[in-house]
Amino acid sequence: MSYLCPLCQQPLFLKERTYKCTNNHQFDVAKEGYVNLLPVQHKRSKDPGDNKEMMQARRQFLNGGHYQPMRDAVCDLLTGLLAEHTMVEGKSQTYSQLLDIGCGEGYYTSHFANALSHTEAQSGTKVVGLDISKVMIRHAAKRYPECDFLVASSQRLPFADAQLSAVVRIYAPCNGEELQRTIKDNGVVVTVTPGPRHLYQLKEGIYDGVKLHDVPVEDLPGFELEAEHSVAYPMTLNSEDATTLLQMTPFAWRAPEALWQTLKETEQFACEADFTLRVYRKKA
Ligand SMILES: C[S@@+](CC[C@H](N)C(=O)[O-])C[C@H]1O[C@@H](n2cnc3c(N)ncnc32)[C@H](O)[C@@H]1O
Ligand SMILES: [Zn+2]
Repeated sequence: MSYLCPLCQQPLFLKERTYKCTNNHQFDVAKEGYVNLLPVQHKRSKDPGDNKEMMQARRQFLNGGHYQPMRDAVCDLLTGLLAEHTMVEGKSQTYSQLLDIGCGEGYYTSHFANALSHTEAQSGTKVVGLDISKVMIRHAAKRYPECDFLVASSQRLPFADAQLSAVVRIYAPCNGEELQRTIKDNGVVVTVTPGPRHLYQLKEGIYDGVKLHDVPVEDLPGFELEAEHSVAYPMTLNSEDATTLLQMTPFAWRAPEALWQTLKETEQFACEADFTLRVYRKKA
């Protein structure tokens, strides 16, 4: 994958284990294989993004396979979209580039990379995972050495104009102008957001009269909503996974002691997963 220097926006060239631009800004490849392209002056805090505890909680829950149906649906969608894209671009294209924005600990990124490398039409797709959290990226790179990972902010993407064929965004923040700049004409953004009934049963333990999630269509400048899919299914969680799931959610801090206790004592907690997948296409 090729990157731009985050300081002067010139292309970076990899020599041995260091990326360098023509202005001699340098970024070393870490021993785990990722590169940190988030300069101190672009950070708002010392360790931005999710921390080690969040990483471990997410990793443990995802390893249980509870979000695998969503992951597979996104992967099928991307495979189809990228095949279409390669056809549109014809033979002149060397490879398509897919960015997983806010990739966390790489669970989805690695699956997309493996799946796309096994699809004949897609063997030329390069996949890169980006997250602002160094701890997330370090673990991702260690666990999935076959993928490219980088520390950077979605607010300033270290990619050239029109470099990317597709961006996938699973529960992560982004910057619409940066997507518009870095994605090719006819390229796509695939987003995953919570659907109306997502984690309904957890919310029942917190709120009187649970409101269904609102799922507003995003206003991404230069893009049009092309498709929307719902991926909804029941999950049966053991006590540990149900507790970890609650810890991962933004409403954990509101959860009453009684709910934590219920989850601690439960053998099987039934809970709905409901995701909204959307495809936004960049207008030519
Ligand atoms: C809710 S997590 C989702 C992670 C992963 N996509 C998943 O679903 O498991 C959001 C991720 O976005 C990252 N993040 C937050 N702000 C970011 C930013 N400005 N740029 C890039 N990543 C960011 C966090 O570090 C975290 O890993
Ligand atoms: Zn530079």
